[in-house]
Amino acid sequence: MLLTGKNAVITGGAKGIGGACSRVLHREGANVVILDIDPKGRQLAEELGPRALFLPCDVSREAEVREAMGKAIQTFGGLDVLINNAGIQRYSTVTETTEEEWDLVMNVNLKSAFLCSKHAIPSMQARGKGIVINISSVQAFITQNNVAPYTTSKTAMLGLTRSIAVDYAPHIRSVAICPGTVDTPLLRDALQLSPDPEAVFQECVDMHLAKRVGAPEEVAELAAFLASDKATFITGQAIRIDGGLGLMVAGSKRD
Ligand SMILES: NC(=O)c1ccc[n+]([C@@H]2O[C@H](COP(=O)([O-])OP(=O)(O)OC[C@H]3O[C@@H](n4cnc5c(N)ncnc54)[C@H](O)[C@@H]3O)[C@@H](O)[C@H]2O)c1
Repeated sequence: MLLTGKNAVITGGAKGIGGACSRVLHREGANVVILDIDPKGRQLAEELGPRALFLPCDVSREAEVREAMGKAIQTFGGLDVLINNAGIQRYSTVTETTEEEWDLVMNVNLKSAFLCSKHAIPSMQARGKGIVINISSVQAFITQNNVAPYTTSKTAMLGLTRSIAVDYAPHIRSVAICPGTVDTPLLRDALQLSPDPEAVFQECVDMHLAKRVGAPEEVAELAAFLASDKATFITGQAIRIDGGLGLMVAGSKRD
């Protein structure tokens, strides 16, 4: 097992990519703390058993994050791994985005990662090691129309990753994971915004050289490897797991 004895906090760990991270890190021997606003996190923690704990927490609010991190540290005796995964998608251009919507996306996707890191890193420092994994997106490198606040938040996560890597080296690492399209509740909800969800899903499939979308478990397996002692020479990087999305020049043909 890759993570025996390590203590991990996973934000948005109730479902989707975060849910898969909760399961895979637990399978690899970690004690897992799920922070989520969705009470399904409790069910998942109960299913995983005694090495798992659910703490309801809106990770965009510092008071809630401070309290939850405190409980996590108290329960398992310290933290080794933080996965900043909680995130939301909204669809708008700059001119259409209201200030409230901009703030919401930035707070949930970006400020939460800052807040959770702020309240987790001191425990990692006390233990002399740790890693902060930020779930960004391929949208930190390439983007589509109508996602201005989302793509901005995901790009900024790379800056946060580099800052943590530089400021807390050599003992604490930070790595960003940048997935392509992954089959999660977030994707399924987004598809429902279209009059033809199946057609949009097929477009997603076709965009990837792999000719499929990713599974949440694939991202989780990468996170488990990065969190393990096998990956201690990797820090500050953005690692794409995207089935070749965006690799081809737009409009070029493969055959
Ligand atoms: N699904 C994709 O195609 C895809 C691609 C690239 C990156 N991502 C990123 O991966 C991460 C996970 O996405 P997903 O597709 O699994 O989403 P999801 O909606 O399926 O799951 C997100 C989880 O985060 C939780 N959450 C949302 N706001 C929260 C808050 N304020 N406090 C605590 N928990 C909160 C939700 O309750 C949910 O359990 C996100 O950051 C997303 O941007 C997803």
